[in-house]
Amino acid sequence: MLSRIKEYALKNNVPIITDAGLLFLKAAIIDYQIKDVLEIGTAVGYSALAMASYGCSVDTFERDEDMIHQAQIHFDLFDNQKSIRLIPFDALTYDQELKTYDLIFIDAAKAQYKNFFEKYTKYLKEDGIVICDNLKFHDLKPENVNRHTRQLLRKIDTFKNYLTMHSDFNTTFFDVGDGMSISQRKMK
Ligand SMILES: C[S@@+](CC[C@H](N)C(=O)[O-])C[C@H]1O[C@@H](n2cnc3c(N)ncnc32)[C@H](O)[C@@H]1O
Repeated sequence: MLSRIKEYALKNNVPIITDAGLLFLKAAIIDYQIKDVLEIGTAVGYSALAMASYGCSVDTFERDEDMIHQAQIHFDLFDNQKSIRLIPFDALTYDQELKTYDLIFIDAAKAQYKNFFEKYTKYLKEDGIVICDNLKFHDLKPENVNRHTRQLLRKIDTFKNYLTMHSDFNTTFFDVGDGMSISQRKMK
């Protein structure tokens, strides 16, 4: 099932988590005994279905109409346990209350990571974790990219600094997949 969705994503140029990133996510789900996940960035549902197959219940945000349509097809086909709730809204403007989660997985617009983090960590359980993907952003170097991508790289760097300096969270960065982090609340 996952390999079919991965194939679909690759064929249609839909960015999805790398194999190494997914293994990392799976290990974290097992290590931290994650049950409830909030994902920001569904795309076609690959990582959400993977996390559901590891036993998680997943609420997942997607704002793009085509992605929403395709993800829903995949969930109808493959989410047999009905573990996934697709929230078809822009996570930045969504204004309904949510439950609390063991894991918030941020994998959406890179320039908005700080906003996602600030908006959604209030829904993180006391001992929950936040995982961010794409912090290496395909290993692009500022000197080799256009102005827009350079700005994006700068924003990712600013976000990493923000995490490093955060007074309430400890963050570890991992050179895995496209660059991942795990943030956990500091003990009071
Ligand atoms: C990298 S893809 C997600 C890949 C997916 N997590 C996976 O590994 O299978 C990022 C997705 O986030 C969505 N996205 C970006 N900004 C968003 C926002 N503010 N709210 C909801 N979805 C957003 C994009 O439309 C895109 O489909």
